[in-house]
Amino acid sequence: MSALFPAREVRERWDDFLTRELARANERIAAGSVTPTLDLAAFKRELAGFDFRTPRALDELLPWIITQMEHGLVHITHPRYFGLFNPAPTFPAQCADRVVAVFNPQLATSTTSPAAVEIEAHVIRSVAARAGLPPEAGGHFTTAGSEANYTALICALTRSNSGFATEGARAFEGPPVFYVSRESHLAWLKIAHQAGIGRSAVRLVATDGCGRMDANALADTLSVDRARGCVPVMIAATAGTTNAGMIDPLEASAEIARNHGLWYHVDAAWGGALIASDTLRHALAGIEKADSITIDAHKWFATTMGCGMFLTRHPGVLSSAFQVSTGFMPSNVANLDPYVTTVQWSRRFLGLRLFLSLAAAGWTGYGKHVERSIELTELLKEELLARGWSILNDSPVAVLCVLPPPGFDEPRSIVGRILASGRVWVAAAMYEGREVIRACVTHGETTPDDVTELVTALHAARSGRRPAEASRSNAKSPGKTV
Ligand SMILES: Cc1ncc(COP(=O)(O)O)c(C=O)c1O
Repeated sequence: MSALFPAREVRERWDDFLTRELARANERIAAGSVTPTLDLAAFKRELAGFDFRTPRALDELLPWIITQMEHGLVHITHPRYFGLFNPAPTFPAQCADRVVAVFNPQLATSTTSPAAVEIEAHVIRSVAARAGLPPEAGGHFTTAGSEANYTALICALTRSNSGFATEGARAFEGPPVFYVSRESHLAWLKIAHQAGIGRSAVRLVATDGCGRMDANALADTLSVDRARGCVPVMIAATAGTTNAGMIDPLEASAEIARNHGLWYHVDAAWGGALIASDTLRHALAGIEKADSITIDAHKWFATTMGCGMFLTRHPGVLSSAFQVSTGFMPSNVANLDPYVTTVQWSRRFLGLRLFLSLAAAGWTGYGKHVERSIELTELLKEELLARGWSILNDSPVAVLCVLPPPGFDEPRSIVGRILASGRVWVAAAMYEGREVIRACVTHGETTPDDVTELVTALHAARSGRRPAEASRSNAKSPGKTV
């Protein structure tokens, strides 16, 4: 089957082709449109031609797929993608994917992949220590932040009631409930659904008007729930909300969780990378009190997709929650074999992406990466304020929620026009009940010129006028931070 397993010379030829052409594609992407330029109807017709009856040669297939990717995606690797925390991946992380694709290790057990399992455990311990968790802390890589948050809920339920393992929600004397803010990532609803406690178990606690969980509202909601016979199991604070990068009161939430004997989780999927910076990590003070933490390596740590992390000071709970025994697996080591400590069974070697990136850049290198994003966000803020725009959020991470000066169209229309231009990518979002434009500096190679280009594009998109007209009227009265 030379099509599936070609000879070495053929593989080398295609490896070389991919190395060369993917680098060129990357350069073309940076100089081209951030948004798709694909004729989707034509593409679907072409795709329908793949009936998989007549084999096609890689000579045709590989150039074809590169072209389709180049034209058929929002390019999160574009330096003017000011988007949803999705990164342009680090080069070491891309190397990791290449290595892993060749060895294709099965990470279900330590017996089958001892080196890989040890590498992942080592990275997890290092990240947990950097976040301030004690030396006995552990955890694992997950497909993404949602799986890590799901793992947190399963741990909380298991710790709260040992009967949960066999009886599920029926083991509780009342409906189990947990607490997140209404600005939290709403995958929590799906998570509650999957965990079998139902979406109504999610308490969306009020925020303080600035996108952070209101600690008083949290305490009040808890008391009301207890009085009604519900069984609180977890408080999950968000460190870096999805819309606005706000950090819930981590210390106060920890204290409330401790007073009520609840599992305390911090969802730092995006903001967690602040631990890399000695000058910025203070914004996460209190995270070290967490029972568990979610950090996505595929967000601000800029690995390839998807690469989450679940960290916990009680790794033993993972063994209680995910333990299972079968005759066909080569080993069954509690606290070590990933298939008995995680949601997954067969596993990809995801952790190599962060291992190689961290080993190549060190915490110092990652610290600079994070600080650079913040500096560019400050520049963006200054340039927008100078043109009369308003900044609504006061976040320590690299995201701004902005509103145009009077006379501009609604945020969603502005975003629509910007995306149609293909020059930059930003999102419309809701922040504290208001529609805003959300710009996030995620790309490690975005330059100050790219930031200026974003500001010009935003200003030009006021009401469908062309950029040249808008740049003539760029000097506006200063704006404000709200
Ligand atoms: C705060 C927060 N938590 C969880 C998630 C979900 O993570 P993922 O998309 O990696 O599953 C996100 C995604 O943006 C997020 O911002």
